[in-house]
Amino acid sequence: MKFTRCNGLHGEVAIPGDKSISHRSVMFGAISKGTTEIHHYLQGADCLSTIACFQKMGVEIENRGDVVLVHGRGLRGLTRPAEALDCGNSGTTTRLISGILAAQDFEVTLTGDASIQKRPMKRIMEPLSLMGASIESVNGNGCAPLRIRGRRLHGISYTSKVASAQVKSAILLAGLYADGETRVTEPYLSRNHSEIMLRYFGADVRTETETSAASGRATAVIRPARELHGNLVEVPGDISSAAFFLCAGLMVPGSEILIRSVGTNPTRAGILEVARAMGGDVTLLNERAGSGEPTADILVRSSSLHGTVIEGAVIPTLIDELPVIAAMACFADGTTVIRDAAELKVKESNRIAVMTENLTAMGADVTETDDGMIIRGGKPLHGAVVDSHLDHRIAMTFAVTGLCAGGETEILGAECVNISYPRFYEDLRKLME
Ligand code: S3P
Repeated sequence: MKFTRCNGLHGEVAIPGDKSISHRSVMFGAISKGTTEIHHYLQGADCLSTIACFQKMGVEIENRGDVVLVHGRGLRGLTRPAEALDCGNSGTTTRLISGILAAQDFEVTLTGDASIQKRPMKRIMEPLSLMGASIESVNGNGCAPLRIRGRRLHGISYTSKVASAQVKSAILLAGLYADGETRVTEPYLSRNHSEIMLRYFGADVRTETETSAASGRATAVIRPARELHGNLVEVPGDISSAAFFLCAGLMVPGSEILIRSVGTNPTRAGILEVARAMGGDVTLLNERAGSGEPTADILVRSSSLHGTVIEGAVIPTLIDELPVIAAMACFADGTTVIRDAAELKVKESNRIAVMTENLTAMGADVTETDDGMIIRGGKPLHGAVVDSHLDHRIAMTFAVTGLCAGGETEILGAECVNISYPRFYEDLRKLME
């Protein structure tokens, strides 16, 4: 896939469904009573992995494209799969399913692709074991494949070192089955889609945030459930996918893009704050609340940008957008510092190393740090051959960066956008016409 400099992006784009919310709608629907009707389900490879896993556990799921029907089997209705469950490239599938499997009365092996088999799973193995589950890494390296034997669980009060919605959600899901209250404290509030949807499906779950200004700590609390009830879910457009158009619109001179129906949940919308702090012209229109998740259209116009510091509590609210924000910072005047983002090293690729390598290959002035990057903006970039490392967000980031660089940018492994945004290149090219 090749990109060259573009003279402005124009028009409207409708963003595919939110990946995090899509996964949760199938998972929570599967363990609820009744039918869950999901609109605008993301048909990316990750979310299809989630559907396949639950089908293998006896759940009838009709995937009609934009609408998915999940015929729930209740909290205790899953059946033992005949073979290992394949989570593909999806960390969300692996970690959240583990929380459910920890309480089933059968044994399962969870596996996935080469990237999944390198991602840290101790972060869920530890709390789930504390709750009484039997969960082990088959190769003894703290990664998948995982062998999980369901057990009777008890509630715990757990403090997580990382602000991770996947860790929090795995514990909350296990907490549905526990014999008492379960509490998960994280250093900063991570995305709260599980809490919103579990409550919407009838669970007793709440969030306690510390009021002291110095602390961003948040605690999610769940009580065991007798049953959950399936419901209608309207999945908003994924802000993590919208981010590529948002940044492209700001970076490519002469652009104006209307991005339709994007989820703007504050625990996900840090990119709006940072884009504005960098001088970006970003306007929210038609703000509304879908099934508990705020949604808006986003109008973005190319802007003269300046550097900023991105750190602390905002990090979990834009963690998946940091690659494209780092690329955008190359086109801003002055220095942008990203810190407190060591989690980037354990995503689908080591995103600090890969971003530094690829941006440097294009002529940018970027320094890799232990927990982020320092980007000195304003140097003109030139095209290069860049490797996606089969990381969807890296591929999309360099498509956008290639539009602002002299010469040609070639992306290796470009097809991995299939994970979260199969039509990405078509949608981007339409804005170039
Ligand atoms: C996700 C949480 C984040 C994010 C991932 C999706 C989720 O991961 O990076 O793409 O759906 O809960 P962590 O929980 O590991 O931070």
